[in-house]
Amino acid sequence: EPALAVPEWSDIVSWWPKLGPTSEKYTRGVVGIATGSATYPGAAVLSVGGALAGPAGLVRYAGTAAGHVLRQHPSAIATKRVAEAGRVQAWVCGSGLGTDDAAATEVRSVLATSLPVVLDADALTLLVNGAMADQLRGRDAPIVVTPHDREFARLAGGEPGDDRVGAALQLASWMNATVLLKGDRTIVATPAGSAWANPTGTPALATGGTGDVLAGLLGSLLAARLSPERAAVAAAYLHGLAGREAARRGPVTAPDVAAALKDVVPLGGAT
Ligand code: APR
Ligand code: MG
Repeated sequence: EPALAVPEWSDIVSWWPKLGPTSEKYTRGVVGIATGSATYPGAAVLSVGGALAGPAGLVRYAGTAAGHVLRQHPSAIATKRVAEAGRVQAWVCGSGLGTDDAAATEVRSVLATSLPVVLDADALTLLVNGAMADQLRGRDAPIVVTPHDREFARLAGGEPGDDRVGAALQLASWMNATVLLKGDRTIVATPAGSAWANPTGTPALATGGTGDVLAGLLGSLLAARLSPERAAVAAAYLHGLAGREAARRGPVTAPDVAAALKDVVPLGGAT
């Protein structure tokens, strides 16, 4: 039985990057978001919204929903393609991307970098269907996958079952990736064999698009140089708090969760 850790607020605060007098947007970290499409622009807006609540100093969006993203989030910088995005420190890839050839090209571009990468939703489908095993094998930089149960089943060849911690650890070891297995009690498992259970989950998050917000926040934490393990644990923790905060105000939709994140993240030290 592996030990199962439960994070506390004080952990999240101690991991959260602090601003100093000479903080600068590029050194805080730049997160790249390759999500959404003309068909699913909402996924792009939500993942950029999640990223903007995190500690990175700049959010670059790369994809075909740039118009929607910029209308909702004027502080983001947008390009059409990952290959044109310029310098970033971490990528988030997948939700609402679709699974056509153009989407596969973007996933390949992200995997070809030597940067930490979050793979979610359609990127996970493309990983399985698109024979990208070669690109995973040669990759040294960390990967975080963020499956819900059906996405997990595609990656692992079967649903997580009753032992969700064991299943997540097994997939993490097999993929050499950090696994954030979503659910009412989200599990984070690392390839080195540590496992965490998130204590802040709320059924208020059971609404379309909240997973996209989580992936964006996670990418921002990676861009700010948290380890994949800490980034995943902190993102799940704060996402749950944001769901609770949003639920105090009324019925929750995914944009409410992105907005509430700004009220629940630790203070960066600047007032
Ligand atoms: N308790 C706690 N957390 C929950 C619960 C619950 N009962 N139900 C869901 N959540 C959390 C999960 O832990 C996860 O963080 O809500 C989030 C849901 O994320 P996803 O499963 O990825 O769902 P999401 O992508 O936001 O929405 C589904 O994907 O299938 C497509 O197009 C479809 O828009 C839809 C989208
Ligand atoms: Mg999802």
